[in-house]
Amino acid sequence: MKIVIIGGTGLIGSKLVTRLREHGHQAVPASPDTGVNTLNGEGLVQVLTGAAVVIDVSNSPLFEDTAVLRFFETSTGNLLAAEAAAGVGHHVALSVVGCDRVPESGYLRAKVAQEKLIRDSPMPYSIVRATQFFEFVKRITDEATDGLRVRVPPVLLQPMAAADVANAVGRIAVGAPLNGVVEVAGPQQFRFDELIRLGLSARHDPREVVADPHARYFGAEVGERALVPGADARLGEIRFEDWLTQSAVPAVPA
Ligand SMILES: NC(=O)c1ccc[n+]([C@@H]2O[C@H](COP(=O)([O-])OP(=O)(O)OC[C@H]3O[C@@H](n4cnc5c(N)ncnc54)[C@H](OP(=O)(O)O)[C@@H]3O)[C@@H](O)[C@H]2O)c1
Repeated sequence: MKIVIIGGTGLIGSKLVTRLREHGHQAVPASPDTGVNTLNGEGLVQVLTGAAVVIDVSNSPLFEDTAVLRFFETSTGNLLAAEAAAGVGHHVALSVVGCDRVPESGYLRAKVAQEKLIRDSPMPYSIVRATQFFEFVKRITDEATDGLRVRVPPVLLQPMAAADVANAVGRIAVGAPLNGVVEVAGPQQFRFDELIRLGLSARHDPREVVADPHARYFGAEVGERALVPGADARLGEIRFEDWLTQSAVPAVPA
């Protein structure tokens, strides 16, 4: 089966390409690096010819509210139109667990807009909402750092390894379209501060972590359970502590 992976050169996309090829599929990565740009349509007709499934794991290169909304609306609109013209039978998109529960986040509002375009289109689809990637925890930590302190809200997270995300998305992509949303998450739930402390300690990073009810998540207020999935979520296998050990995080310089 020919499967085109939009964003196939990124963190999740490159793992997906490898996994799908291991299962005998013709997995084709598509991104500006390979001559395909969903913002202006460049290369789309060619790459979609003969494709049965399209998986969209692209991400906006800019994170400012207007830019990110423009990215997901324009790229998703162009993609869905090109897929319909090419006779693609399944559109799979990677979204975020709880994106509709954090209205103050411009990034998550853009993911909601992306999901709406998909739901409103006639294309058979599956939306996979994932929790925060383990690989993203360092960026979250840096963003929440204020001097030598990391301030995070006292909320719950259930993060997952990018490898587990890619496995889950790959499995859903080769199945029948769900025409709905499925949630995927890691095997363990953490308090936000506890998760950040584990990551810092693995890197021998001396920053102190504070659970602060006034702290925000990338500028947005978040409810205690807004970012954790429901009871039906499909869970990955990789535990955060094992991932930290295996990924041999380099220690911060003294
Ligand atoms: N981070 C998290 O914790 C998290 C959690 C849940 C869901 N997600 C979702 O997961 C998805 C993938 O994230 P990621 O971390 O794997 O992304 P990433 O590593 O930043 O990769 C982004 C990909 O998008 C491609 N891209 C950028 N502009 C494009 C364009 N105009 N046309 C086509 N492709 C374009 C990039 O191509 P080039 O390399 O050629 O620029 C790259 O392959 C995102 O949609 C995100 O919302 C993330």
